[in-house]
Amino acid sequence: MIVNTKRLFEHAYGKYAIGAYNINNAEQIVGLFQGNIDSQAPFIVQISKGARKYTSTIMLEGLIRSANEMFPEAIFAVHLDHGDEATCMDCINSGFYSSVMIDASALDFEENIATTKRVVDAAHPRGIVVEAELGKLGGVEEHVSVSDADAKLTDPDSVREFVDRTNVDSLAVAIGTSHGAFKFTGSQSLHFDVLEEIQKRVPGFPLVMHGSSSVPQEEVARINAAGGDLKGAKGVDATQFRQAAKLGVTKINIDTDGRLVWTRVHREYFRDHPAEFDFRPIGKIFMKEYASFIAQKNELLGSAGQLESVRAFLKK
Ligand code: G3H
Ligand code: 13P
Ligand code: ZN
Repeated sequence: MIVNTKRLFEHAYGKYAIGAYNINNAEQIVGLFQGNIDSQAPFIVQISKGARKYTSTIMLEGLIRSANEMFPEAIFAVHLDHGDEATCMDCINSGFYSSVMIDASALDFEENIATTKRVVDAAHPRGIVVEAELGKLGGVEEHVSVSDADAKLTDPDSVREFVDRTNVDSLAVAIGTSHGAFKFTGSQSLHFDVLEEIQKRVPGFPLVMHGSSSVPQEEVARINAAGGDLKGAKGVDATQFRQAAKLGVTKINIDTDGRLVWTRVHREYFRDHPAEFDFRPIGKIFMKEYASFIAQKNELLGSAGQLESVRAFLKK
C-alpha cells in the first residue's frame, strides 16, 4: 500500500528511522519488498533522477505498482530523491509520488528558500510531501558534485527560519556524512552535537540523514578478494542510527550498501562459475541476498517489527 510519507514520519518520530532505499530495476525491487516483509518494516522506495533515466519512469512506476500487488502487506511511500525543480514538478504532476526532495542545497540561502517554496506550493495542494536540504553533503549525486572542501555542515541557527519560510515537511541536514563508498576521508566525521542543536531549534520536525551507507568492511573485503578494487572504502557506523533517530532523524537514505551487495554477489558468482552465462541463477541469488540485507538494515534502523503498529496508526 502506497502511503503518505508524512504519516510514516509521524509514527516513527523519536522512536526509529525509516529506511529510504534507492531502486533501479526489477531484481532490486523484489528484494526490497521481500526484505521489508520479512522484517515487518514500513519503508520508503526512493527514485533518483539517474534511476528515472536508466530504467525509464514508466518502467519504474510499473515495477513498483506490480510489487505492490505481489506484496499486498507492504506499507511504503514513493519518493523522488535529489530532485531539481523541473523533476519535482514532473513527479508532483504524475500523481504517483508520495513525496519529492527538492535539492537546492547548492544555491545560496535565499535562493534555496525561494526554490523550495515554489515546490512546496505546487506539492501541498495535491497532498504531496516535500523534503529539502540545508547545508552541503560531500560526495557525488546525479546533478550535484561536492568536494570534501566544499561540503558544509548545516548551521542550526538557520534551520527554524528555513522551515518557517518554506513550509517544507522534512529537512535533509548535513552532519558529516557524504554520498558514496568513501566517507569520512579527510576531516569528515558524524556530528551529533550539530544534530542535537538542530533538533532543539525544530523539535518534532522530521530530519533526514543522507549518505548513510555503512560500507561494511566484510563486504568490501569480499569484493576485493573477488577481483574488485575498493581499497579504503568506508561508511557510517550503523549502530549510531538509533541515536540519530532519538535526535529527530526519521528517514535514513541508503543506496551505496545495496550496490555493494550487487557487486559482491556478482563478482563472487562469476569467479566461482566461469562457464555460466544465464542471468537467472545469479538474479535469484541477488534478490535473496538483497532481501536479507534490507532486513538486517531495518533491525539497525529500528523499523523492523513496526509494520502492524503503522497499519493500525494509519487507520486512525
Ligand atoms: O544520493 C544519490 C543516490 O545515491 C542516488 O544515486 O543518482 O547514481 O542514482 P544515483
Ligand atoms: P549512500 O551513498 O551513503 O548510500 O547515500 C544514499 C543517499 O543519500 C541517497 O539520497
Ligand atoms: Zn542523498
